[in-house]
Amino acid sequence: GRKFFVGGNFKMNGTIKSVKEIVHNLSTAKLDSNTEVVVAPPSLYLLLTREHLSPNIEVAAQNVFDKPNGAFTGEISVAQLKDSNITWTLLGHSERRTILREDDDLVACKTKAALGGGIGVILCCGESLEEREKGVTTDVVTKQLKAVNDSIGKEGWSNVVIAYEPIWAIGTGKVATTEQAQEVHAAIRKWLSEAVSSDVAENTRIIYGGSVSEKNCRDLATQPDVDGFLVGGASLKPAFVDIINSNI
Ligand code: 13P
Repeated sequence: GRKFFVGGNFKMNGTIKSVKEIVHNLSTAKLDSNTEVVVAPPSLYLLLTREHLSPNIEVAAQNVFDKPNGAFTGEISVAQLKDSNITWTLLGHSERRTILREDDDLVACKTKAALGGGIGVILCCGESLEEREKGVTTDVVTKQLKAVNDSIGKEGWSNVVIAYEPIWAIGTGKVATTEQAQEVHAAIRKWLSEAVSSDVAENTRIIYGGSVSEKNCRDLATQPDVDGFLVGGASLKPAFVDIINSNI
């Protein structure tokens, strides 16, 4: 079976004080031991988070660069994450794709670099409202995933979690219905089985992100192809613990 996976993406939020509080709350809370938990604070607070967080919870960067070292002002390398005991990174978040103009090729290069350096990748994909209304959701998502598959090959997927995050649901309070989420997750799994392999389709976690809250998480968690969540706003609040425990 696929282990339930819940990530908290703090985005560009928090202070030393508030991150310490969140980390303290998580470290002392009773968390479902059958759920893998990963938090992604701003890069400035990665080390602080790793230092104060209990060891059963992992830490992710929100982004990483694909070059090993050198003159890349403002970037962080895979080796630097590894050196700091940061074991995961988000990649391809829609905010980076749109606001920071990252394209499929760059996301694919970064994914390959992260995996090559032993860092797990929470790979984000998802369609805009316009794309959904045009009926091209599956095409958009599989195109994003294909670029990565072309770069990492079949073996790469063992250290990837796919996060399906419809852009219209992110930060809007407009969560996908359980049917909408399940439909896309099933389409992604079908694509994996056809384009990669049946083993990869069976074993890859596909998590949902977009206005997940302590109120809607339990219904979503019942869906057969929803293997967890990527939580933005609610990961900054005590209710994040309820979301982590939604699969009990
Ligand atoms: P919200 O949970 O705030 O909608 O954000 C979702 C997200 O983008 C997580 O990466």
